[in-house]
Amino acid sequence: MLDRTHHVRQIKYQFEYTRRLKACFVGAGGHSFRNVYPALRYAPVDLAAVSDIALDRAQAYARLFGGERAYSDHREMLERERPDLVFIVTSYHPDGRVQATDIAKDVLAAGAHVWMEKPTAASLEEVRDLSVRSKAAGRQVMTGLKKIFFPAIEKLGEIAASPEFGRLSSLYLRYPQALPAPSRRGDLVAMESFLDHIYHPAAILNFLAGPISRATYEWESHNGGCVLSMRFASGAIGTAHFAAGSSGSSPFERVEVIGENANAVVDNGTRLTYYRRADLPTYGRAASFIQPEANAPLHWEPENSLGQLYNNNMFFLGYVPEILHLCDAILESRQITKGTLENVIEIMKLFEFFRSTDAGVTATI
Ligand SMILES: NC(=O)c1ccc[n+]([C@@H]2O[C@H](COP(=O)([O-])OP(=O)(O)OC[C@H]3O[C@@H](n4cnc5c(N)ncnc54)[C@H](O)[C@@H]3O)[C@@H](O)[C@H]2O)c1
Repeated sequence: MLDRTHHVRQIKYQFEYTRRLKACFVGAGGHSFRNVYPALRYAPVDLAAVSDIALDRAQAYARLFGGERAYSDHREMLERERPDLVFIVTSYHPDGRVQATDIAKDVLAAGAHVWMEKPTAASLEEVRDLSVRSKAAGRQVMTGLKKIFFPAIEKLGEIAASPEFGRLSSLYLRYPQALPAPSRRGDLVAMESFLDHIYHPAAILNFLAGPISRATYEWESHNGGCVLSMRFASGAIGTAHFAAGSSGSSPFERVEVIGENANAVVDNGTRLTYYRRADLPTYGRAASFIQPEANAPLHWEPENSLGQLYNNNMFFLGYVPEILHLCDAILESRQITKGTLENVIEIMKLFEFFRSTDAGVTATI
């Protein structure tokens, strides 16, 4: 088997980088405290300033995470600091629109690159507008699609694209999320949780199989669970099970890809099994299930004993890798290839499909 994981990236600590980007951060909330500011320890960035409308939190985050200054107004921060790159991790307006969308426009207008958390926006139109502004400004906008930076999902993508696997023919993805009742889907506030979460499974679907060409779904009114059936432009087919009503004690996710006489599964984001191309042992006659080592399944999962980076959620949930993806691209003057606005446009098409299509109807995406 061809192994494209020829090397595992060796991580530098922030202070070891000789070239660093001047960064600002908009938003000092819960998720950024837990998962984004701490990830900057491993990125080539100098945190110049933090802004939050709650100045006391901006000050506390600046003190704790090494920011030089704190602001309550991001526009004033952009004007005074003139950063290379701005991280935006904010929330929703009372009407359900995404706060980060307009902030990203301000950042582009100030001439900086944008790293923003999902959701990028609450409509396809707004993402297209952001894309036009990004091109006009000559600055990149990356959305934190962390799922496609999970090492297990990256490897799944590599397996699915390999000649030994055969052509990707179908896939299945499980993710617990509830779709509101049809009468509420026009209301962005009612759709907030669905918008917030659809980025995760949709990012994986897009990463593995590309754009969806048509889709249909069934919906149950009890939990809001949903089963989506898709045909991809590539010719592959897929299903997503939005398993609303699952137990809080259960792992969330399972993704399986099928090739030609081969398949691979990621369970719980970290357990990857690759059932390599193999024939079924002779039906009714084979005395053992043991296959030759050359086509035996391969299995990966992290050890959880050592204080390593790879068994830290900062890494296995993709937070550091997604930030490095943008920083590397900026420092090397090239375009990002993951978390792009083109990826996000495909995610938003799926979001709008659910808002505008009744259960049981097949729609072109
Ligand atoms: N990828 C993931 O794993 C993941 C997990 C959780 C949340 N998120 C995303 O992170 C984002 C934040 O979620 P959260 O739960 O931390 O929200 P939060 O409400 O705790 O934090 C948002 C912060 O943004 C600040 N803010 C709002 N408007 C601002 C402005 N104009 N200027 C400066 N600060 C402003 C708020 O005061 C608040 O402190 C959401 O987009 C959410 O979808 C992603």
